[in-house]
Amino acid sequence: MKNIDSKGHVRGESIYLDDIPVITGTLYGVVFDSPKAHGKIKNIDYSKAQNLPGVERIITYKDVPSENQIGGIFPDEPLFAEDEVHFCGQPIALILAESESIARKARKLIEIEIEELPVIVDPREAREKDQLIFPPRTFNLGDTSATWNDCEYIFEGVADSNGQEHLYIETQGAYAVPMENGHIRLSSSTQGPTAVQKTAAKVLGIPMHKIEVDVVRLGGGFGGKEDQATPWGVMAALGAQIAKNPVKVALHRMDDMRMTGKRHPYKSDYKIGLSKELKIIAYEATFHQNAGAAADLSPAIMERTLFHATNSYFVPNVNVTAYSCKTNLPPNTAFRGFGGPQGMYVIEAAIAHAANELNISPHKIQEKNLFKNGDEFSFGQVVDQAQAESSWSAVKDKFALEALEKEVKTFNQENKHFKKGLSLMPICFGISFTNTPMNHARALVHIYQDGSVGISTGAVEMGQGVNTKMVQVAADIFKINTDKIKLETTNTTRVANTSPTAASATADLNGKALENDCNPLLKRLKETASKHLDTVTSAINIREGIVYDNDEKTDLNWEKLIEMAFLERVCLTENGHYATPLIHFDKTIEKGHPFAYHVYGTAISIVTVDCIRGTYEFDAIKIVHDFGKSMNTAIDNGQVEGALVQGIGWMTMEELLYNDDGKLLSNALSTYKIPDIYSAPKSIEIEALTTEGHELAIKKSKAVGEPPLMYGIGAYFAIQNAVKAFNPNYKLKFDAPFTPEKVLMGLYER
Ligand code: MTE
Ligand code: HPA
Ligand code: MOS
Repeated sequence: MKNIDSKGHVRGESIYLDDIPVITGTLYGVVFDSPKAHGKIKNIDYSKAQNLPGVERIITYKDVPSENQIGGIFPDEPLFAEDEVHFCGQPIALILAESESIARKARKLIEIEIEELPVIVDPREAREKDQLIFPPRTFNLGDTSATWNDCEYIFEGVADSNGQEHLYIETQGAYAVPMENGHIRLSSSTQGPTAVQKTAAKVLGIPMHKIEVDVVRLGGGFGGKEDQATPWGVMAALGAQIAKNPVKVALHRMDDMRMTGKRHPYKSDYKIGLSKELKIIAYEATFHQNAGAAADLSPAIMERTLFHATNSYFVPNVNVTAYSCKTNLPPNTAFRGFGGPQGMYVIEAAIAHAANELNISPHKIQEKNLFKNGDEFSFGQVVDQAQAESSWSAVKDKFALEALEKEVKTFNQENKHFKKGLSLMPICFGISFTNTPMNHARALVHIYQDGSVGISTGAVEMGQGVNTKMVQVAADIFKINTDKIKLETTNTTRVANTSPTAASATADLNGKALENDCNPLLKRLKETASKHLDTVTSAINIREGIVYDNDEKTDLNWEKLIEMAFLERVCLTENGHYATPLIHFDKTIEKGHPFAYHVYGTAISIVTVDCIRGTYEFDAIKIVHDFGKSMNTAIDNGQVEGALVQGIGWMTMEELLYNDDGKLLSNALSTYKIPDIYSAPKSIEIEALTTEGHELAIKKSKAVGEPPLMYGIGAYFAIQNAVKAFNPNYKLKFDAPFTPEKVLMGLYER
């Protein structure tokens, strides 16, 4: 089935926040934000801005009727700064004006005096100064300290990875319309409609039922709108409550880049111990997560770093600790992979380090340590239905790894100024929110009297194709044509208390809730048909909109059946619920079974480095991916390609840069480079691993949104291998992204 949005997208007809027609009287909100990364606010003079014709009013923390607090996990983040500022870009006030340009002009007229305080941008420095967002956590399996003596080889080092700007095409925004009796209708570009609703209710001091959040779709979220769509939604709602006019807040690109958090940069230490047979028998790591100035989702993200610290490898003795370090950057947040990539990169670095010292290929170590059924993760979950070895051997066979390696070797022998590098990257990613209580969802189905069907779920469409998958789920149960089914907007009055669209689990959770609507509806319809046809219910079947009795066509079709059921006073609406079974986790001992299942796969990356310029091109990425039984190969392959390229961008070219004063230097598309069509790999081949699929995945089709991003980590090591081939004096460094600048330095290092 095609993505139901394809036509609308290419015709420019799909509705995003900025396409919602505005109502007469709408005010435009522009955020005034801190020019300094840390300091005491001594004075703010709003008078010139306030007096600009067209400015309606300026809202600050003093206008907040209830709590000036938006922290989702910890209450440590004010909506508007009060006496202090903690990062450049921190919202201080919302200017409401007749037009956006007037509001932006007014912003320039605000005068602020800040007494500057010391700025920390480095997470290690924050840890030294005891600036932690919350206490560190450690996952432990076996006994590393007792194992070092048994190791034949031990290697230690550091591995750093930088952050990443989400660069959703649609920037953050929201539109609030005041309704009667103090109700507010809020359109928001958010992955978490309930988070926006709940936080707005708290700040405005009204119950949740007075705020209706509606989401049509997002022009991308990538995690950046899981938590950080909330402030703009709350500001719009607050503006509407105070001004009694509709209020629209939609960030310009540079405002968005400056004010919002990104993927967390990490600075990490590793120590890896191997046996003579190259088994990894001990692994220790310390992760320093650069959290920024407030918690946001950092606790959950830090936890996922620990969950994925050994990637696809079974290590019997593991001790990994993570620190969430408070710095004067915008609070960093969810980004595809949610801390997992940052953890996986470090063990891959440790393996590359070991292989380099032992003068062997990293594959030799990777291959020997892949998870098998019955192995244990450091957090106690036992590995089952492992596809680590199967995807590894499939990638080797299907893409003739040995021949590829030979080609690379020959090329490098024959070429002086171009060198190729090859790497393998296995992935293993846990599916479920790591926070068990978040793993449930609801869906609402109405069958209308004419046989058309309307579906609402808690899922937010942001390009990942979840709406198409929801239509497929219903169509497959009812056995009717997909054009009879409409997917409604995501709306908190139709489906309440939703978890955000995140953790790659949206289709699983909402799809299974939807199955719990459609199955009982179908049962009632079959009962209606069997009564009418005077047969047993089990003899009734619907195929392509026609009712069959014992495989014989009847004169009943879907429309007639629905009409009949309605006249018989059968309920044609269902509200289904689903909660993932089996999962649990006990934080007091850091053990449990947090994931419904894992997604596996392996990628081969081949790069060519121009050894005069330091530039590089990816010749090919060849992937064997564990889709389970993909319910939509077009969408799922698209997710693999998109995630892969996003991962390569993170590892190679996207360079987030803050100066020591905490000011973002890579603050526009001219200074922050993401992969374009020229820097995308020349070829991407994706093979599906043949498996049974998993019972807890929707229609046995495994979650696909985040896992393939981590194939991109292989890009770093492929480039490194090419640099090594050119310069025997090059010393391995793990400092992602591997930008052309760093490549050039590496090529000519002595
Ligand atoms: N794909 C597109 N096109 N746009 C996005 O914003 N977000 C990713 C992924 N794929 C994203 C995307 C992230 S971070 C997640 S968690 C999943 O989609 C969420 O959707 P799912 O749970 O339906 O996979
Ligand atoms: N993934 C994404 N978002 C989340 C998670 C997670 O595991 N936990 C809480 N929010
Ligand atoms: Mo995705 S980072 O879980 O929104």
